[in-house]
Amino acid sequence: MNGKKIAVGICGASGMPYAKRLLEVLAESGAFVYAVASSAAKPIFKSELGVEFQDFANALSKKCPSVKFFDDFDFSAPIASGSFCFDAMAICPCSMKTLSRIATATGDNLVCRAGDVALKERRRLVLVARETPLSLIHLRNMVSLTEAGATVLPACPAFYFKESSVNELVDFVVARTISAMGFRQNLTAQWGEKHQ
Ligand SMILES: Cc1cc2nc3c(=O)[nH]c(=O)nc-3n(C[C@H](O)[C@H](O)[C@H](O)COP(=O)(O)O)c2cc1C
Repeated sequence: MNGKKIAVGICGASGMPYAKRLLEVLAESGAFVYAVASSAAKPIFKSELGVEFQDFANALSKKCPSVKFFDDFDFSAPIASGSFCFDAMAICPCSMKTLSRIATATGDNLVCRAGDVALKERRRLVLVARETPLSLIHLRNMVSLTEAGATVLPACPAFYFKESSVNELVDFVVARTISAMGFRQNLTAQWGEKHQ
């Protein structure tokens, strides 16, 4: 992912360990990361990880200057415009609210606007959806988004590599997210191959 431009949206859904790990892996890969958390995401980040989102963001962008964080309503951010050619976007975790807003192209915060840009520019958009159970409305929104070219990737780890820790389960979802964006990952093995 070195040199790729990758947008990351973080929404107010459970699953902040996925968001944190995804951002760290992308940062360490040398990618240029354009990240934005919704206002609902920040308190959930603190409650699930025990760290203020802003403190995490400051530390990561200091360690990896290729990672930049933008405000939720900063429509002048590069990823708000189709003329800025980012390679792919993941929204991780993706709430049902953001899912519905991207399905209806509201563009009313930077996460939704960047998701809308990814779809209209025919770039890879991966929605790491987190809700259970799903209503018919959630499912219909997922169909609309899939028809529009997005990948709906439920935050749904598997157990077939005999994962023994929460971190390994988190890595499973992050690895699938990176693959769905079209990049190689080496967090987990591929079925039928030995992990290197
Ligand atoms: C602790 C907590 C956990 C939540 N988990 C989820 C969730 O897993 N999925 C979901 O769709 N909404 C969840 N919500 C509700 C969303 O945060 C809420 O709908 C919010 O408006 C989403 O805004 P956003 O999509 O702009 O981030 C949760 C709320 C709280 C307070």
